Amino acid sequence: MLHTVTLALTKGRILKESLPILSEAGICPIEDIFDSRKLMFLTNIQHLRLLILRGVDVPTYVQFGAADLGITGKDQLLEHGGEGYYEPLDLKIAKCRLMTAALPSSEVKLERTVVATKYVNVARRFYAGLGRQTELIKLYGAMELAPLLDLSDEIVDIVDTGNTLAAHGLVAEKLIANISSRLIVNKLAMKGNFTVVNKIINSIRNVVGSENESN
Ligand code: PRP
Repeated sequence: MLHTVTLALTKGRILKESLPILSEAGICPIEDIFDSRKLMFLTNIQHLRLLILRGVDVPTYVQFGAADLGITGKDQLLEHGGEGYYEPLDLKIAKCRLMTAALPSSEVKLERTVVATKYVNVARRFYAGLGRQTELIKLYGAMELAPLLDLSDEIVDIVDTGNTLAAHGLVAEKLIANISSRLIVNKLAMKGNFTVVNKIINSIRNVVGSENESN
């Protein structure tokens, strides 16, 4: 009997852009994900099920083997740190940029810069690389408000169209990373369940192409 393989998906925009790729790869949920409160779905492939998670949780599920495979943004992988999984494919969807931003009038402080972000690990590494001292404030959303309300000097956040920054009078400053969604696979699942897992990776690779560009 085949061991059930679990693929964790990221709800929201990434889910909307992932499902057509999975469908083209021959993987379809057997019911409408958007018409259900369920978080786990069977697929047309008997031994493959899907989870619907927040992107931040996908690397954790895959790291610990609760899911064999996952699809989430490179921003979440950079923040998580990459332990316990491989990243075999760039799906080239949900592209955006991870950037620093601030009010246009603000100057780079010589003393400690206060940075508000949900990407505290990424921000810590990035500012350390610039040789700048920071105080990091962890937020879970609405980062754009922080400089306006003097909570922080700068923010680190995702920029897509730039409209959210512009709506708050902020300007993007430094590019930290180009972001797109990636397929990740638990290291032990890759070894222990190679045939099934590799077949899934290859069927998705055939849809998105093998070129692993990261922009
Ligand atoms: C993201 C991000 C910005 C916005 C950027 O938020 O945090 O607020 O999108 O997009 P733009 O450059 O096109 O304006 P999202 O809507 O994904 O919500 P969340 O951060 O609360 O998940």
